[in-house]
Amino acid sequence: MALHLVDHPLVRHKVGLLRQHDISTSHFRTLANEITRLLTYEATKDFETEKRTIKGWAGKVEVDSIKGKKVTVVPILRAGLGMMDGVFDMIPGAKASVVGFYRDEETLQPVQYYVKLAKNIEERMALILDPMLATGGTLNATINLLKDAGCQSIRGLFLCAAPEGIERILTAHPDVDLYTAAVDEKLNDVGYILPGLGDAGDKIFG
Ligand code: PRP
Repeated sequence: MALHLVDHPLVRHKVGLLRQHDISTSHFRTLANEITRLLTYEATKDFETEKRTIKGWAGKVEVDSIKGKKVTVVPILRAGLGMMDGVFDMIPGAKASVVGFYRDEETLQPVQYYVKLAKNIEERMALILDPMLATGGTLNATINLLKDAGCQSIRGLFLCAAPEGIERILTAHPDVDLYTAAVDEKLNDVGYILPGLGDAGDKIFG
């Protein structure tokens, strides 16, 4: 499917604040969740609604209601946890599936250490959460894991993404939609995004 750059002025402003080198843990967490609410708004734009009739203050009234869309949020440990509340603010009924990967600093390969998926994941749309999409190794492994579990509808939400990672994922998984608050310039020679945000996990967890 596609890359969606969410470049609303509020998002661009908040990403600018995130880049401040001495940002506090508390401010980074607040901004990460605020941006995630806006990413969620964009990533759910095509959800179908259906009419239902309720009793309002002046009698019967027809209202819109989300049609049969079941969602599982998939934060990638650890940094993805820093975006989870932002999705739950918008979709309180979403279930959580948690996957744990760390990136080997030498090989840059993802190493899996935890998986706990929501029940009936094959019936749900997965919203993967990770502040950073760098080489794309971690995201690629997460998408493969979800597809192996039967998940048929997958979207990813990111605060900051590198062109290298975006291209890798869109080539390997053209059926997946990526929503990012920023597309940065490139990766440096140790796999960090430039200009980037620094180590998002360290910034969120302190
Ligand atoms: C970071 C980030 C992604 C991954 C991106 O996690 O949160 O999960 O690296 O890199 P990639 O696209 O090259 O795979 P990190 O390994 O720092 O773990 P953490 O979230 O536990 O801090």
